[in-house]
Amino acid sequence: TRLKVFVTRRLPQEGMELLQQSAGCTVSVWDSDEPVPRAELLKGVEGAHGLLCLLSDRIDTEVLDAAGPNLKVISTLSVGFDHLAIDEVKKRGIRVGYTPDVLTDATAELTVALLLATARRLPEGIQEVKSGGWSTWKPLWLCGYGLSGSTVGVIGLGRIGLAIARRLMPFGVKRLLYSGRQPKPQAQEVDGEYVPLDTLLSESDFVVVSCALTPDTQGLCNKAFFSKMKKTAVFINTSRGAVVNQEDLFEALSTGQIAAAGLDVTTPEPLPTDHPLLTLNNCVVLPHIGSATYSTRGIMAQLSANNLLAGLSGDAMASELKM
Ligand code: GLV
Ligand code: GLV
Repeated sequence: TRLKVFVTRRLPQEGMELLQQSAGCTVSVWDSDEPVPRAELLKGVEGAHGLLCLLSDRIDTEVLDAAGPNLKVISTLSVGFDHLAIDEVKKRGIRVGYTPDVLTDATAELTVALLLATARRLPEGIQEVKSGGWSTWKPLWLCGYGLSGSTVGVIGLGRIGLAIARRLMPFGVKRLLYSGRQPKPQAQEVDGEYVPLDTLLSESDFVVVSCALTPDTQGLCNKAFFSKMKKTAVFINTSRGAVVNQEDLFEALSTGQIAAAGLDVTTPEPLPTDHPLLTLNNCVVLPHIGSATYSTRGIMAQLSANNLLAGLSGDAMASELKM
């Protein structure tokens, strides 16, 4: 009998082709650029052996129950897996594929771009040019903060955190601090100093969040966190929105407790257009585009399709989550 596969979104062609060419599967796709409505998701997974999903799909007990006992493999087109109810998935013996490594470079590049754009106030400058606010060259107009001679603190020196550090060092960064659960040998490559979080916050000119969202990191960046940062420091988050308490961030930005923030991730996503953070000049918000290069997204689609197919045939996946 053919295996049933449900795909929650229209994928880049490289991924769709792999699924459609696979002889043993009947593939049904929520063939849209918009998220699958919850009711369609619950219907679509019914009896499915494999599920290919996105980070915008919440795969919880209700979805797993709707799928039923056939479900053997979940493949997510993302490196993050906080949208999956991992304990439930594990309990049911479902294998999970994801897409680490292939998006590391693109995400690190975007983080550097966002850091520079925030610190050097590019969105404000662009706006001034367009609105006629650019009257002349002024000595203290649109001044910001530079990397040269600075201290950078990376929270979570994993694959992406290290790739960010590697890219920032050549800008003349003086010290690279990092915090996390334990020191990492690979930090040597960037002369990273493992320090307690409080030290990182009080000494860094740039605080970059690059950790996974877990119960430990949920709401980590709160009032106490921002109060330990320098008033001249820039905060950058390209991991998950829920690591940040956004009310506390708004307060820190609007009272001058910290200088600026650049976010590629928010809660919720999309951030409502009337959200208070969007009224602030010193907050740059991007629409979760860390891995958004044409080639990276194509490779992610291929990898997630291959992970799914490998899992369905009981083979080793190129990237399987160890649970
Ligand atoms: C992006 O946020 C991802 O998890 O791939
Ligand atoms: C800037 O354009 C300068 O010449 O200093």
